[in-house]
Amino acid sequence: MKKIIIAIDGYSSTGKSTVAKQLADYLDYIYVDSGAMYRAVTLFALQNNYLSKDNFDKESLIKVLPEIQLDFKKENADSKANMFLNGVNVEKEIRTMYVSDFVSPIATLSEVRKKLVAIQHQMGIKKGIVMDGRDIGTVVFPKAELKIFMTADAEVRAMRRFNELKEKDETITYDEILKNVQKRDLMDTTREDSPLIIANDAIEIDNSETNEEDQFHIILQLAKDRVAGRI
Ligand code: CDP
Repeated sequence: MKKIIIAIDGYSSTGKSTVAKQLADYLDYIYVDSGAMYRAVTLFALQNNYLSKDNFDKESLIKVLPEIQLDFKKENADSKANMFLNGVNVEKEIRTMYVSDFVSPIATLSEVRKKLVAIQHQMGIKKGIVMDGRDIGTVVFPKAELKIFMTADAEVRAMRRFNELKEKDETITYDEILKNVQKRDLMDTTREDSPLIIANDAIEIDNSETNEEDQFHIILQLAKDRVAGRI
């Protein structure tokens, strides 16, 4: 059967990764969370003191970018792929608020974007891939057969992320998450290189009031239409 590329872009915490994973499982495609790659570079910058609350040594970070090795690997056959940074599983650490607070400045750096986009291109060579992020339909795969752009009210998104994170971190507050979501949306949409914008041929889905299952079926139908060449 014909394999396609599915690009899912959108604002923070719109449930992109949930639907991307559902589609990849159903279609037996590879799922790639491009945000995890930006988060891993951010963790590297924090761990090596290129980045902190009052300092961002962009030049030094750019110089050591070739030293950063990123891989998606499964711990066992049934588990989902985890992000590995220089051979270390960092899946849990990259999801913390600590990393979320610094990731958007890192994602403004063209040198970082260039490195990650090159890796993402390689992953999509054989098609049969669902990738989510901010620039997948506009920059990474401008010829993707199906492009989805996901939006939802900021408050709805912050509440979803809060429910997800509060089990792992009891100190987290809804207000802190809402602020982070709004700050990242602003930086992601206004940066110079590859800002978050809707591609001309993307289908916009506002899921403020749609449940996960309905949304999955809507997007799956769109994918099936593309695979069958109906659209
Ligand atoms: O899960 P959530 O939607 O909150 O974020 P993410 O997909 O993990 O992405 C984290 C951050 O990485 C975003 O806020 C962007 O700043 C950046 N990013 C990007 O610039 N381009 C991408 N393709 C993916 C993520």
